[in-house]
Amino acid sequence: MDDYKLLISGDRPLMGEIRVSGGKNTSVAVIPAALLCDEPCQLENIPDIEDVHVLIDILRMLGAKVDYDPATKRMNIDPTTLSGFTVPYSYTQRMRASYYLIGALLGRTGEAEVAYPGGCSIGNRPFDQHIKGFRALGTEVEERGAVIHARGRAIGSGVFFDRITVGGTINVMLAAAKAEGSTILYNAAREPHIVDVANFINSMGGSIKGAGTDTIRIRGVSRLHASNYAVIPDQIETGTLMIAAAATRGDVTIRGCIPTHMESLTAKLLEMGVGVKESDDSIRVHTFRGQRAVNVKTQEYPGFPTDLQQPMSAMLTMAKGTSVVNETIFENRFKHLPEIARMGAHIRILEQTAIIDGVSELFGAPVTATDLRAGAALVVAGLMAKGTTEIYEPGYITRGYERLEEKLRSLGADIRRERI
Ligand code: EPZ
Repeated sequence: MDDYKLLISGDRPLMGEIRVSGGKNTSVAVIPAALLCDEPCQLENIPDIEDVHVLIDILRMLGAKVDYDPATKRMNIDPTTLSGFTVPYSYTQRMRASYYLIGALLGRTGEAEVAYPGGCSIGNRPFDQHIKGFRALGTEVEERGAVIHARGRAIGSGVFFDRITVGGTINVMLAAAKAEGSTILYNAAREPHIVDVANFINSMGGSIKGAGTDTIRIRGVSRLHASNYAVIPDQIETGTLMIAAAATRGDVTIRGCIPTHMESLTAKLLEMGVGVKESDDSIRVHTFRGQRAVNVKTQEYPGFPTDLQQPMSAMLTMAKGTSVVNETIFENRFKHLPEIARMGAHIRILEQTAIIDGVSELFGAPVTATDLRAGAALVVAGLMAKGTTEIYEPGYITRGYERLEEKLRSLGADIRRERI
């Protein structure tokens, strides 16, 4: 239970400029990837969020030296003092993506013993494809007492993923980067942060080709040298800010982003009648006319990201007409909708499909966040609603979005914390 709630006094347009932070989902993969290096590494643009601090604790517990400056977003990692390969549940329960430690430790030491992370509210999220990949590389993988124990020198091989998985693609890439021989990943995920991890490993002297396509070729190398690498901006934070700007009928320029990563959302906003103007490293969202209802189907990249489904469906509650939202990636990613219905939204949920009949007004109400992007959806709804919205369990939100409240306040939002 968080000891504070967020209060939002809504129905105010967001106006101005904001710079997006470094990517959460790329950072939680690039930081473990630094363990593969045979020399100290420097990372830039690492966001000051809880998931990053959990990883710092894990790497230090394993014996690596880690310095991080939240002001400069710069992180120095010296993996040469690494001495352990066991990550207990007391650490993995704090961050789901701790599973990347398996691929990184396997790739560096040939052994990893990592407790399964905590459950997740958006779906079952098994690891079968990760394990299939590690076994295809010739390592022995046992699951005992909610711990994954993998050991053995990875030998290059072919890995065909039965379903597209971001984590599986990255995790097996980490294990294969220093394998004996070459590996080909088939039916690989194509998300921007997969390209970022591959670029980072290549910047250390790795040999990964095809990242960003569904076939990734990895030639194992024996040694990786020091690198100074800046991670890409956060695709999902960019999208969340774009949606918040459109939902409040504001005029916001998001700086330091990569517009090509946002194409599926940009297309949807244009379809709604929202104005979107792209330049090299910024996107301006402003509204020309009313917002038409649209249909959204989540898909793997470059399709519409499941992580933006929740904030997007919040915005659709006030679009003109009926929107149909189909969530195809996770089984249970509509938990924000009943909360927004408390604010006056008209929503019907039929398994993986939400039917949203746009209303002319939402009214502030007390609501509870259940996961990171559900929390973001409640923030969007609160920014749209008349009156005050109270968001309980806001820790979900602040853990994955760097200084979100401060950013929104700088755009004119009336959002603040209040102790419970
Ligand atoms: C990553 O999770 C992201 N997290 C998620 O973002 C994101 O929603 C997801 O990719 C999809 O884009 C990080 O990058 C840290 P998957 P991941 O493996 O890797 C099933 C956020 O809010 N699956 O692509 O866990 C799985 O259950 C988070 O930032 C298997 O069946 O996602 C899901 O239904 C939430 N077996 C689907 O595949 C496996 O072995 C996609 O999962 C692996 C996955």
